[in-house]
Amino acid sequence: MEKPAYNTDIVRGFVIWSIIWGLVAVLVGVIVSVQMTNPEMNFPPYLTFGRLRPIHTNAGIYGWGVGTIFAMFLYMAQRLCKTSIWSPGLAKFQLWLFNATIIASAVTLLMGFTTSKEYHEMEWPIDLMIIVLWVVFAINIIMTIIKRKEEQMYISLWYMMAAIIGVAILFVVNSAAFPVSLFKSYSAYAGTNDANVHWWFAHNAVAMALTAPPLAMFYYVLPKSTGVPIYSHRLSIISFWSLIFMYLWTGAHHLLWTPVPDWIQTLAMAFSVMLIAPSWGSVINGYLSMNGQWHQMRENFLVKFLIMGITFYGLQTLQGPMQSIRTFSAFIHYTDWVPAHIHMGTMGWVSMIAFASIYYLVPRLYGKELFSIPLANLHFWLVLIGQLIWSISLWVAGVLQAGMWNAMNPDGSLTYTFMETMVEMYPYWWARTIGGLIFFIGVLVFIYNIYMTVKKSDAPSPAIVEAEGRV
Ligand code: HEM
Ligand code: HEM
Repeated sequence: MEKPAYNTDIVRGFVIWSIIWGLVAVLVGVIVSVQMTNPEMNFPPYLTFGRLRPIHTNAGIYGWGVGTIFAMFLYMAQRLCKTSIWSPGLAKFQLWLFNATIIASAVTLLMGFTTSKEYHEMEWPIDLMIIVLWVVFAINIIMTIIKRKEEQMYISLWYMMAAIIGVAILFVVNSAAFPVSLFKSYSAYAGTNDANVHWWFAHNAVAMALTAPPLAMFYYVLPKSTGVPIYSHRLSIISFWSLIFMYLWTGAHHLLWTPVPDWIQTLAMAFSVMLIAPSWGSVINGYLSMNGQWHQMRENFLVKFLIMGITFYGLQTLQGPMQSIRTFSAFIHYTDWVPAHIHMGTMGWVSMIAFASIYYLVPRLYGKELFSIPLANLHFWLVLIGQLIWSISLWVAGVLQAGMWNAMNPDGSLTYTFMETMVEMYPYWWARTIGGLIFFIGVLVFIYNIYMTVKKSDAPSPAIVEAEGRV
């Protein structure tokens, strides 16, 4: 069969922009972390923790995370369907709108316009931009899948479709609001209903943006890097359907001990614990795919990123269900334990897979060998050590904080004032800044390596060009 002419230009665009937004996210992450230890580093009204924190989270999840997802989905859809992208023009428009949306979000958040719903802070005009962006993306990927030349649908395509449909439903339902001016709207839901819908959205954003897409990439890049197929396609499909079924019930685990009806909390708790099985289905599939290939952990830097990434996913999906149990939640909720959980997920799982995906893509998009494998290894160790310092120090901080909040004198009064518990956090927050800085340096090494690969003067390697069928 003749090799289709794959479009790589647009994938390059998304790779470059996701890296740029990733750099912004970690830089602002380091800044907000310093602002917590040094409050004098807040410069009102714009450069305060309150305004920069959502810029960090949105740049991290939507700029870096979703940017890489766009790049990889446009790349994988073409290869897995053995056909070129349905509409390159639409994909170009998508890239333009993606950047316009991120910039509009950053500017309005800096100016203080916010819905105050976490991970959905942007006001309604930006919601409309996001909806158009997602529709354009969805049409292009779904049409590419419809006109595919390969009958079998590999597991990555299932995760991709789930992410596309899932995000669309979640976002539209949670966006329902009444605009009262250009930058102010009120949610269509009230009271606990609003909280419930919001956390249904937010937790499933974790499922549909921070779980399904990295799994799609993992299942694609792992066998490509090791040269050996995944252990079981059947296991991947069973895990997929059970994951999709179970996730949608779990949102209220963010609302334990609140006025949300008890049965909803219990349902969320039960489904969260059940989620261990489908999550670990993928982890085990990943590990078993390494049968006879474990030596590649030493020799192949891509495998290091992928296997450490899936390991953090495994740890994250054990810790998450634990946090969903009422008694455990009563201890750690509102403490620094929770950001540690989040950053094992975002820095350890999502970013490790994103780094591996970009390292996989760039030589193929530009037809050149990677500039330096030792630098890629150095990058791996820096981001791994940085993330471990970040998370471990805040887990310890969280337990200490919870212990101090719960400590009581014999007469029933609290042993510590809130201020005393805050002061106790300083060394851990400093440790987080150091971990963040190490991670940030790792990201700079990564960017240098990618930049030098693209800039390398060698002519494109004929083997890579041939294998890729680039245009
Ligand atoms: C150098 C690396 C990073 C540093 C120093 C950093 C720092 C921080 C800090 C200080 C906070 C505020 C925590 C609080 O409110 O108590 C935060 C929150 C957050 N960051 Fe990061 N971060 C980094 C990387 C990332 C990345 C790569 C992502 C996403 C891909 C991310 C996503 C988030 C999210 C979702 C939150 C909200 C946490 C919550 O609700 O408690 N971060 N980060
Ligand atoms: C089986 C899977 C998982 C379960 C059951 C779970 C459970 C939880 C729970 C109960 C919380 C709330 C903690 C609290 O505030 O008391 C939480 C927070 C969070 N988790 Fe997970 N988690 C899972 C996997 C993941 C993964 C893979 C990620 C990917 C990065 C992730 C990212 C987050 C984020 C961003 C939050 C913070 C929400 C906020 O701002 O309050 N989780 N998770």
